[in-house]
Amino acid sequence: MAKRTIVVMPGDGIGKNVLKEAVRVLDAIGFDAEYVHGDIGWEFWCKEGNPLPDRTLQLLEKHKIGLFGAITSKPKDKAEAEIAPELKDKGHVYYSPIVAMRQKYDLDICKRPCKTFKGNTLNFIRRGPGNTIEEPEIDTMIFRQNTEGLYGGVEWTNPPDLVYEALMTHKKFKENFAWCPRPELAVSTRIFTKKYTTRIVKEAFEYARIKGLKTITVCEKPNVIRETSGMMLKIAQEMSKNEYPDIKVQDTNIDAQMMWLTKNPETYRVIVAGNMFGDIVSDGFAGLVGGLGFACSANIGPEVAVFEPTHGSAPKYANFNPSIVNPIAMILSACMMLEHLGENDKAKKIYDAVAKVVAEGKVKTYDMMKLPGNPDVFSKGAVTTEQMTDAIIAKL
Ligand code: NAI
Ligand code: MG
Repeated sequence: MAKRTIVVMPGDGIGKNVLKEAVRVLDAIGFDAEYVHGDIGWEFWCKEGNPLPDRTLQLLEKHKIGLFGAITSKPKDKAEAEIAPELKDKGHVYYSPIVAMRQKYDLDICKRPCKTFKGNTLNFIRRGPGNTIEEPEIDTMIFRQNTEGLYGGVEWTNPPDLVYEALMTHKKFKENFAWCPRPELAVSTRIFTKKYTTRIVKEAFEYARIKGLKTITVCEKPNVIRETSGMMLKIAQEMSKNEYPDIKVQDTNIDAQMMWLTKNPETYRVIVAGNMFGDIVSDGFAGLVGGLGFACSANIGPEVAVFEPTHGSAPKYANFNPSIVNPIAMILSACMMLEHLGENDKAKKIYDAVAKVVAEGKVKTYDMMKLPGNPDVFSKGAVTTEQMTDAIIAKL
């Protein structure tokens, strides 16, 4: 296969520590690629007033595949305080570069697998009948709509006239919110479109079909959020009837789903949700299978795709030398990239190597030992970020 070019965007904090480890694993498995560096993150906000410089966008447009570490975002006052003095008051406004990237390239399909590694001491356990201890084996793929809904960014404080007037045409708004002075009113919209809702639901069905699964779960709240959640459920039900008659649609509410998380998580194999509920339910499931050190994800659009761990830049650990954080979430994200590129064999080998290291239980980063993140974790038996990677490479 022709050599690929991958845009690597380490970003801030521990993004820098973990991304280079994923590249080491990709090299070790013989993935034929070259890596070009893309600038992204807080550093470029401070220096250039833009956390996602145009040169990085050009690289993504050219090469189509990105591996991303993590970025630091800070509140508005900090963003204004930390920008370079010569850029102050020049109209620069901070925005999240990862959200911007998802919207710009239509990275509308977010996949977040949550799968138990046998022997992981972070695995969820529960009590079974007769006071027994059960460790359910979880293998759930969460499909999160990645560009719309509550994270779509269509929102106002003190909405302008036309927006306010439009809201006033709604009976419920008039009855329940007209009392509120406009400057004290904040509105965030939850927009779903049929096109993008259909795309994410279809991905969930396709995955179920490939895996031979008979049910997908739409996790929304259609009894209350009738228009948007209702649209997703209806699309799923019609798709089941017309295109996937062998696959049933089960419907759960996000609140109840979070309660059932600890009751019977192993019974949910495919979950599809809008942007925010998908974010919530995927973090919930990730917590059952090792947490942030294990949670990987893919953001896939029609042309561009970006793969990233779901954790952030963990600034308090960024300057630990040697690094203490777990590179597994980033390495599994690189596996998802390989699968996306059709390199399933290499992806499986890496995945199996991670599984072996975890199952043996000899090599653990601090999070896998439930230690507080301090520089002294090594004296308590934890390994460094690099040593964890070395152990995985040794199993390839
Ligand atoms: P975080 O995910 O960076 O860290 C939270 C805690 O999780 C850490 O203190 C650490 O205890 C643990 N953790 C995270 N990654 C780990 C790893 N690989 N191994 C072991 N333990 C790990 O979230 P936090 O502290 O809320 O945010 C820090 C910064 O990251 C903020 O500026 C935030 O805006 C940003 N962020 C960026 C994201 C992204 O780039 N996609 C996602 C989430 C937060
Ligand atoms: Mg999240």
